[in-house]
Amino acid sequence: MKKDLLKLLDLSAEDIITILNTADQLKYSQKHGIAHDYLKGQTLAMIFEKNSTRTRVSFETGMYQLGGHALFLSGKESQIGRGEPIQDTARVLSRYCDGIMIRTFSQEGVEKLAQYADIPVINGLTDFCHPCQVLADLMTVREHKAVLEGLKLCYIGDGNNMANSLIVGGLKMGMEVSVACPEGYEPDPAVLDFTRSDPSFKFSLCRDPRDAAPRADVVFTDVWASMGMEAEKAAREKAFQGYCVDAALMELTNPGCMVQHCLPAHRGEEITEEVFEAHATEIFDEAENRLHAQKAVMYLLMAKH
Ligand code: CP
Ligand code: NVA
Repeated sequence: MKKDLLKLLDLSAEDIITILNTADQLKYSQKHGIAHDYLKGQTLAMIFEKNSTRTRVSFETGMYQLGGHALFLSGKESQIGRGEPIQDTARVLSRYCDGIMIRTFSQEGVEKLAQYADIPVINGLTDFCHPCQVLADLMTVREHKAVLEGLKLCYIGDGNNMANSLIVGGLKMGMEVSVACPEGYEPDPAVLDFTRSDPSFKFSLCRDPRDAAPRADVVFTDVWASMGMEAEKAAREKAFQGYCVDAALMELTNPGCMVQHCLPAHRGEEITEEVFEAHATEIFDEAENRLHAQKAVMYLLMAKH
């Protein structure tokens, strides 16, 4: 049966570790000029209904490095934008391509696409989650800290797609996870249910970032208004006052605490220029690792083993 990457909730801890280990190997191969054209002759269709820099470039480049080809389909310019049902798009693309990556609004849309496609579907971000980003994030933290289990991951800001995936990914990897968000901006209820599903999970949700940051080994943040929420920008700017990752907050964390941001970043909003630049190497390692983590996902889902 074909497999998909729709959300981290669907993966076991072993699945995540396999992806991270494969990503490390593929990164090594890429850096050392070792051939790894495992997807020779294959095509990935990339559907974008939202903007992107990293996701588009890393998937397209990754597919090329694996010996395959990626094609860009803009939601607006394809028939999807004129209302062609997702179940028909799924069956058409399955006749031409070997995999589909989709960035869209609704998680249900991605699940439906996967249900009707005969080829693997990869979620490149929905309003609910951003699994590829968080696989790259876990890879980056493991690279810098050597382990994940037992580390404390702190997330400051909106309970959005990034928060949802970080909570699930962090807990599955045995990390302690603390989240600080304003009232009314909590993570998805399904994710909060997940945090309560295993008594061994160490999870806390607080209002004050200063309650979430102590003992953190890695601090994550993300924009206050995600793509599609532009109309709420002013209200969100007000609600998120005090949710900025700044030097005073970083003082509370463990020595050597990392900072990660999926990007794009809004300096002076969710993160100060000072903290961003002090951790720029880690943040751009994280951006680079999108390439390697996604190559691992494509290899594991699409290669004819
Ligand atoms: N982090 C991320 O997904 O970036 P893009 O929106 O540029 O793809
Ligand atoms: N939460 C952000 C992530 C961008 C990569 C958004 O959805 O716009």
